[in-house]
Amino acid sequence: MSVLIKNGTIATSEEVFSGDIYIEDDLITEIGFSVDKEADNTIDASGKIVIPGGVDVHTHLNLHQGKFVAADDFYTGTVAAACGGTTCIIDHMEFGPPDCNLKHQVDVYHGYADNKAVIDYSFHGVIQHVDDSIIDEMKSIIEKEGITSFKIYLTYDYKLDDESSLRVMKRLGDLGAVTAIHCENDGILSYFKNRNLSRNLVSPIYHALSRPEEAEAEAVSRMITLSSLADDAPIYIVHVSTGKAARIIAKARAQHRNVRAETCPQYLFLDQEMYQQENNEGLKYIMSPPLREKYNQELLWSYIKDGTIDVIGTDHCPFNFNNEKQAGKNDFSKCPNGAPGIETRIPLLFSEGVMKKRIDLTEFVNIVSTNPAKVMGLYPQKGDIKVGSDADVVIMDPNKKVTISSNMLHENVDYTCYEGFIVQGYPIVTLSRGEVIYENGKFIGKKGRGKFIRRGKVNQFSNIWK
Ligand code: URP
Ligand code: ZN
Ligand code: ZN
Repeated sequence: MSVLIKNGTIATSEEVFSGDIYIEDDLITEIGFSVDKEADNTIDASGKIVIPGGVDVHTHLNLHQGKFVAADDFYTGTVAAACGGTTCIIDHMEFGPPDCNLKHQVDVYHGYADNKAVIDYSFHGVIQHVDDSIIDEMKSIIEKEGITSFKIYLTYDYKLDDESSLRVMKRLGDLGAVTAIHCENDGILSYFKNRNLSRNLVSPIYHALSRPEEAEAEAVSRMITLSSLADDAPIYIVHVSTGKAARIIAKARAQHRNVRAETCPQYLFLDQEMYQQENNEGLKYIMSPPLREKYNQELLWSYIKDGTIDVIGTDHCPFNFNNEKQAGKNDFSKCPNGAPGIETRIPLLFSEGVMKKRIDLTEFVNIVSTNPAKVMGLYPQKGDIKVGSDADVVIMDPNKKVTISSNMLHENVDYTCYEGFIVQGYPIVTLSRGEVIYENGKFIGKKGRGKFIRRGKVNQFSNIWK
């Protein structure tokens, strides 16, 4: 099967030019100013922008959080991703039974995803306790299973202390794998949460007021210190939500520390005022870290622009407002944490970033596709338009104006945080390994067509980019 994409404005990680892309089976086989070849399918991309498919390295599909289960599974969640221009995800495994080994959750996640996902996928391993046998087992998960990143949490049920975090970083660094970290200081959070609850301060805004900016900044700083003590093991700070934390990362980057960072659309486009909405609608935004005071948004943009923040992930973790989220209506701390966003990442970043000239097209491609692929050992198979790369390609119509609403999205959840947002520019065609799977607003691919991707090792980030 061959596909020819003609006359598009092609945006790669390095340049923007007018040209054609030729695809044979799964791969891009030719890129040029004018490719004159017969193809089974020719797509006219005149007036459109052709980008590498989005890579979202922070999703929680099917996540079990206490008695709640996230509303998107690997079918509905990846359909929504494809319709929003994302062609590869790396999902964060949930915690398993107490004391389980690492392979346990790998098997559980293959059970969740295989034969369901419609785009390509991988998983981040999860470390919920640290002992000699877990440290030992990491090698086989990396080398046999092809999983080259592991998540640690500094809060929640299975938070790791500094000694355990250091052991994890050192071992993963030695093996060529990345430690991804949820950075919030648990002691600070529990102090403020308990103080607020004891004063009967239970409405959604107290979720945010229980998780001060300093809790994130302190944890980020501590983890960067531990990574340098672990012989500069590679660390990836997920969902950075504050200017304070980003400033610490900027300083570490200036000192060539082996750290990379992600923020998410919610921290760029939404703010703490959302928690004050009437009828308890503030519950929709209960996520961790919480939405912040508005001044953080421009700071985060400036840290994207200067390369401190490399990646935009979604932290897609949807619970229905009219169902699961209501558990928090009399007490914010009972509300499942998380919000949807897998389908709106590319449209929001394109519209607010490229169309509003905060970033250029190349920077956009890097933060939504190339950098996430590089950080997580997927590059160059994923994350760029290059000869030999997988033919994961998205065609954006810069003239298409869309009013975002949960009705038009494919996410399996009863709200979007971006209801009524108007975006200029939208994905109109998504190809995954050469197959058109989304077109004319509809998903047209087959359930289960997505493949598990074995990822490469990562050690010094600076070996793969600046
Ligand atoms: O509130 C959130 N972000 N839920 C998902 C789990 C996490 O912390 O990433
Ligand atoms: Zn997190
Ligand atoms: Zn998350």
